[in-house]
Amino acid sequence: MTSDLSAQPAARYPDALRHRLAEDLRTARRRTQALTDAVDDAELTRQHSPLMSPLHWDVAHIANMEDLWLVRRATPGDEPTPGVREDLDHLYDAFTNPRAGRPALPLLDPVEARAYGATVRERALAILEQAGPDGRALLDDGFVYGMIAQHEQQHVETMLATHQLRVGPRALHAPPPPASSLARELVGTEVLHPAGTFAMGTDATGPDRYALDNERPAHRVEVAAFHLDAVPVTNAEYARFLDDGGYSRRELWSEAGSQHITDEGWTAPMTWERLDGAWHRTSFGERQPIADVADQPVLHVSFHEALAYATWAGKRLPTEVEWEYAARYDPASGETRRFPWGDDDPTPERANLDQRHLQPAPVGAYPAGASPLGVHQLVGDVWEWCDSGFEGYPGFAPFPYKEYSEVFFGGDFRMLRGSSFGVGTVNARTTFRNWDLPIRRQIFSGFRCARDA
Ligand code: AVJ
Ligand code: FE
Repeated sequence: MTSDLSAQPAARYPDALRHRLAEDLRTARRRTQALTDAVDDAELTRQHSPLMSPLHWDVAHIANMEDLWLVRRATPGDEPTPGVREDLDHLYDAFTNPRAGRPALPLLDPVEARAYGATVRERALAILEQAGPDGRALLDDGFVYGMIAQHEQQHVETMLATHQLRVGPRALHAPPPPASSLARELVGTEVLHPAGTFAMGTDATGPDRYALDNERPAHRVEVAAFHLDAVPVTNAEYARFLDDGGYSRRELWSEAGSQHITDEGWTAPMTWERLDGAWHRTSFGERQPIADVADQPVLHVSFHEALAYATWAGKRLPTEVEWEYAARYDPASGETRRFPWGDDDPTPERANLDQRHLQPAPVGAYPAGASPLGVHQLVGDVWEWCDSGFEGYPGFAPFPYKEYSEVFFGGDFRMLRGSSFGVGTVNARTTFRNWDLPIRRQIFSGFRCARDA
């Protein structure tokens, strides 16, 4: 391995930061390997759904992003540095190659894709050894390394969604989530959030230095009083909506939602089926009675389904502003914090993250992660649909590339907040903004309801 590091930065990153960046990259790669080693190479090249890439596309796309940003651009002084495989850039550009068409591309085979990833990673870690701030925002606090670790973790979640769509015997295993003794008490509980003003978004310094462009800048927002459910809508609650004829009562649905469930023939969440009169779901190849997971947040519902449920319940979905206010505002101190529980990082006692359990935990299973007002599981478990479109915050500036966020602003997207059990801790921020089309439900999506005060 040689690389010309003649343009040395004035100072290397402090050891603690350099180790943390390397560890975040390694944590993501361990997960990529676990998800791809779980199936044979023939399966890695198979497309399980036109909504998803074959897994070996993700592997090489992850490597190509790292090649682009760490190998070629993270070298000190912005000297253009040759990439490992610049010839592959067009094949693995997500923006120009929609998912449905990816299998038809002349892709690397799984052996080549893994080798590309390993070579790029070796180069990236060698560059990190010597790296430090060089005046570019890209290298401030190691931003670009954090960005690439987050990018791999985002694809790790996407690959997990591909696993959910795959048919065949179970390939992934994980210990069950913690139990809850609070579910009965919390289901149906609404928490009144008083009107207030808070700092939405972040300026991405300190522990939130990896925050992506669409989370910035921090800006004060006034919020009117509202009620927010203490917990996400559970499987048991959603089953009552189904049994009350929810999918036939079209007055509960938006026009687009009603049209979509007709076109697709949807009568229940993705993976649900009625067998011998009882609802079941299939989770990574294993069918379970819904009665056994009654207190878990409902999973794999689209925005349209979430909205129809909320209408049926006489409620609505929260806006993105309300969601972030509930997750960050501490009424006692008036401060805006990092997480519902305060400013400390997530732990296994506070949130269901990192694909630790491969399913949501029952509601109330993380009392240590609750907000001061008593809202539970805002972080982890399921992404929560919000009734907001995707726009940049006042003063938004694309960074470092406009295809991450800006090109999607103003489209027919709805926002998702909070992160799922499939999200890596490096991405788990209450400022993090996820988005998808209102018809999508292959993602790990659920919701909670809100109501005007
Ligand atoms: C933020 C989840 C919408 O998967 O399309 C991955 C994340 N961006 N590679 C996506 C992403 C570039 C993105 N979402
Ligand atoms: Fe990507």
